Amino acid sequence: MTLETSPAAERNRRFILDVLKRVLPDTGMVLEIASGTGQHAVYAAPKLSPRIWQPSDRNEHCLGMINQWRDAEPSSNLQAPVLIDVLTQPWPVETQPMNPAITALVAINMIHIAPWQCCEALLDGAQRILPADGVLYLYGPFRQQGEHTSPSNMAFDHSLKSRDPEWGIRDLEKVTLAAAKRQLALMEVIPMPANNLSVVFKRHYF
Ligand SMILES: C[S@@+](CC[C@H](N)C(=O)[O-])C[C@H]1O[C@@H](n2cnc3c(N)ncnc32)[C@H](O)[C@@H]1O
Repeated sequence: MTLETSPAAERNRRFILDVLKRVLPDTGMVLEIASGTGQHAVYAAPKLSPRIWQPSDRNEHCLGMINQWRDAEPSSNLQAPVLIDVLTQPWPVETQPMNPAITALVAINMIHIAPWQCCEALLDGAQRILPADGVLYLYGPFRQQGEHTSPSNMAFDHSLKSRDPEWGIRDLEKVTLAAAKRQLALMEVIPMPANNLSVVFKRHYF
């Protein structure tokens, strides 16, 4: 059996893990949205123990890939993937007791490869699910101050929009504002290789 791989995930996963180790709450369940092949999940889960990693995707084919990777590289703290389309609310993890409780949401390379509505739905989910000081971690390319941060990101944005006009690299300021409206405070913006960012939000309650 040949495992399907994402070259981008191969390249960026160790840099992402370094950030996750630092910013995630020490315990609890990490719900990964849009896990894709599952390569981040199998790589990160054992290194982030005792946290539990819960992969998910909206695509059944992805769930199959995640299961294959999980079989190939098992980890006691890596859960079986669940079907979550951020647009279909409530998410299944909200209607069943989670043990341990979810303390973080992670979405890697998702919000630009989906309509803006999906970013809003992801933020809605974070608002509903995260406890006080729970973390939402986003990774990917962003525009900043209304500009692309590199010619390669601009070209990537054009190629995304040619595939689907509703896709595209998001403005960090727009994401941050939409998050703030949902009691998700921007904590850190961390430059990453290849003109990507790690963006960390924390849920607060007044
Ligand atoms: C570029 S892939 C990234 C996969 C993985 N996170 C990675 O970095 O390798 C984008 C993923 O977003 C998922 N996705 C797109 N729309 C979604 C939605 N509405 N809800 C959940 N996942 C979605 C796709 O199924 C796909 O797996």
